[in-house]
Amino acid sequence: MEKKVTVVGAGNVGATVAQRLCEKALCDVVLVDIIEGVPQGKALDLTEAAPVEKHDAHLIGTNSYADTKDSDIVIITAGIPRKPGMSRDDLLATNKKIMTSVTEQVAKYSPKATLIIVSNPLDAMCHVAHDVSGFPKNRVIGMAGVLDSARFRSFISMELNVSVENIHAFVLGGHGDTMVPLPRYSTVAGIPITELISKERLDAIVTRTRNGGAEIVSLLKTGSAFYAPASSAVEMAESIMKDRKKILACAAYLEGEYGIKGLFIGVPVKLGKGGVEEIIQIKLTAEEDAALKKSAAAVQDLVDAMKKMA
Ligand code: NAI
Ligand code: 2OP
Repeated sequence: MEKKVTVVGAGNVGATVAQRLCEKALCDVVLVDIIEGVPQGKALDLTEAAPVEKHDAHLIGTNSYADTKDSDIVIITAGIPRKPGMSRDDLLATNKKIMTSVTEQVAKYSPKATLIIVSNPLDAMCHVAHDVSGFPKNRVIGMAGVLDSARFRSFISMELNVSVENIHAFVLGGHGDTMVPLPRYSTVAGIPITELISKERLDAIVTRTRNGGAEIVSLLKTGSAFYAPASSAVEMAESIMKDRKKILACAAYLEGEYGIKGLFIGVPVKLGKGGVEEIIQIKLTAEEDAALKKSAAAVQDLVDAMKKMA
């Protein structure tokens, strides 16, 4: 295929990303992990599904970054997921080390790639990937807002019993408890949801969205969500590979937009072949703006905590 995408981390999210990428026939896929045999086994299993799924994408599984050479996009899912009772932030120290070593290798072999970061705590891991790779800000993008918005959209669909296709919704801010669902910018067939759902029910949906990751963790008990996260990362990769220029909520490096400087945080961006081609600035009420600033402060705390780590 014309495009080459590397997926680092052949665990739940990474393997599902690889599956979706090849089954949509978007690109060839290289699946990398530190565990010997796992990326090779999963890539072979997916390859053997290809005749049935009817695609000609090539997959390889590997423990060597030499095989990732000249990837167009690298999706980084390597790291540990949280267990019940853990917050995403509890993963900081371990995943910082993993993200550092992975990004060094990725940047060495694919200096022109666009990076889509998935590992948690998401916004902080974007900082690590940006710093270590030295890539320009438009080529380092975090996946969280697409997932959080998809959860919000699913819950709105359940509430109103309407097609998910009719629902647009935005969740901005950091990928944590302070994320900022924006009912005012969320619509069903163009109708603001504030016209269709009572304040009381909407508050409950917003709370469920904020706790969406934890709800899955408490059900699975041994890991975190991966189907919706994988779909979300693939939507971003597809928009970049096909230059679709979709407007999606993604973690992007802000330099004054929304009054935030030097921080990765979730905002609406235009994703095309240049990666983040534009940061879309929407007007926020004083309350929404305060919620975004609070979320940014929570991300800043993690970035500051990382600076104190060895
Ligand atoms: P998982 O445990 O199933 O897979 C992680 C994989 O990373 C494992 O196969 C492991 O061997 C591999 N790995 C660890 N260190 C590595 C290294 N140095 N190089 C290459 N591979 C390495 O975990 P899962 O569920 O796939 O989640 C992965 C990460 O994504 C977690 O940090 C999780 O919190 C995060 N996540 C983020 C989401 C988001 O919205 N941003 C959504 C879902 C998960
Ligand atoms: C989620 O929101 C774990 O961040 C991941 O499901």
